[in-house]
Amino acid sequence: MNNDIEKVLYSEEDIQAAIARLAKQVAADYQDKDPLIVSVLSGAVLFTVDLIKKMDIMAQLDFIDVSTYFGGTATTGHLKLIHDLTTDVKGRNVLITEDIVDSGRTLEYLVKLFKDRGAKSVKTVSLLNKPEGREFDVAVEYYGFKVPNEFLVGYGLDYKGYYRNLPYVGVLKPSVYSEN
Ligand code: IMP
Ligand code: MG
Repeated sequence: MNNDIEKVLYSEEDIQAAIARLAKQVAADYQDKDPLIVSVLSGAVLFTVDLIKKMDIMAQLDFIDVSTYFGGTATTGHLKLIHDLTTDVKGRNVLITEDIVDSGRTLEYLVKLFKDRGAKSVKTVSLLNKPEGREFDVAVEYYGFKVPNEFLVGYGLDYKGYYRNLPYVGVLKPSVYSEN
């Protein structure tokens, strides 16, 4: 798996340092807010787990799955709710955890969904932010790194469902795409 990576953008150490900084910020802001942390499956799971372990505050955790990409590197423009929350967000301070915000389509959908369901507040913490990919006007209140407009894998990010378990974020060798 490591042989398929052309370059490492953020090492495991870089990522954990960024998460420590984010956790401190978020924990301070949400100390008395009883947040509901909503992790977006499957990409945000690694980030969410590392983040919440570093937050010494009372918080609840739930998961949602929305799909925009269907296995490849290009978005289809289509969006589907695949797995819903089990928690009622009415009156709650929702904190969405994402692996990456690219076009912003997923985030726009989720923020609207939670607001329509009566959430008191909805904010987002994302490990990565790809502003050049933005097509929807969404706010990313907290993020770890601003990334270039490249297709990335690792630490939750996948190509055709693989590479999520890399402990770092990197760029795939072009040969990996051409083989498929
Ligand atoms: P958006 O809706 O376009 O903002 O994209 C959100 C989702 O697309 C993310 O949660 C990722 O799962 C996926 N995604 C966006 N960019 C990348 C990438 O560079 N590599 C892998 N997945 C990506
Ligand atoms: Mg995702």
